[in-house]
Amino acid sequence: MVDAGAEARPDTPRRRVLVTGATRGIGRAVATALAADFEVVVAGRRADAVADVVDSLRSEHSGTATGLLLDLADVGSIADACSGLADLDGVVHCAGVEGTAAAADLEPEFLGSVLAVNLAAPTELTRQLLPGLRRRRGRVVFVNSTAALQTFPGWAAYSASKAALRAYADTLRLEEGAHGVGVTTVFPGRTDTGMQREIAARRGTHFDPETAMSAASVAAAVRYVLTAPADAVVTDLTVTPAPWRNS
Ligand SMILES: NC(=O)c1ccc[n+]([C@@H]2O[C@H](COP(=O)([O-])OP(=O)(O)OC[C@H]3O[C@@H](n4cnc5c(N)ncnc54)[C@H](OP(=O)(O)O)[C@@H]3O)[C@@H](O)[C@H]2O)c1
Repeated sequence: MVDAGAEARPDTPRRRVLVTGATRGIGRAVATALAADFEVVVAGRRADAVADVVDSLRSEHSGTATGLLLDLADVGSIADACSGLADLDGVVHCAGVEGTAAAADLEPEFLGSVLAVNLAAPTELTRQLLPGLRRRRGRVVFVNSTAALQTFPGWAAYSASKAALRAYADTLRLEEGAHGVGVTTVFPGRTDTGMQREIAARRGTHFDPETAMSAASVAAAVRYVLTAPADAVVTDLTVTPAPWRNS
């Protein structure tokens, strides 16, 4: 824990939601979008960045936030890292890595590094958090990608990780319904974050934000999932940039 303070006050009980990848991009936008109504556990691998987001949620958004140090590339460390957590009403898996290689050149180390963060980590984190999620009849939200639904040359590792994550989520939904846990996959398209800028820089091209939607737009979809009426579960939600934005 970076900061164990700020328990929800008894007179204002807020649902407690952990957000991974909350230090940047979509994850930070999700943490911000939830701050007004939820107690947010800001999970990230860099202590200074986690503390910065916690401070921002508390001071700029009147939020109730705590931090959790979590390096998802080290899947074996996840159990210890989240062992002190109180029961959660939700977890939003936003952290992810991209990376390109032709299928013909796909080396096991690279594939393994993508699968670790994008597949093994969210499944292990879910496994660790499930007892508490069951007690709170919570929600598990996976920020996946339209790359799970349609792949492109060079994207074998990333698309495979996201397609497998979708299959895991579908299975989890079937199994956990009996325990009161709802499972949602959100499939965002091209989103204006550092990830797109890094892809463009590697290609030697320029990223045009007009071709993408904002991280806040994806966060609004996640917020909808977590605030939907309790008698319904949003199972799958695809969110893409409005087609007329760049026409
Ligand atoms: N941007 C898009 O166009 C797009 C489209 C569809 C789906 N997505 C998906 O949306 C999710 C968020 O992407 P984004 O665009 O917000 O990416 P981003 O701006 O690159 O942010 C990635 C986040 O993941 C965290 N992360 C990466 N490796 C980690 C690790 N080993 N342990 C803990 N945290 C780690 C990063 O932490 P640090 O700050 O420490 O680096 C950062 O907070 C990803 O799952 C991505 O696949 C993105």
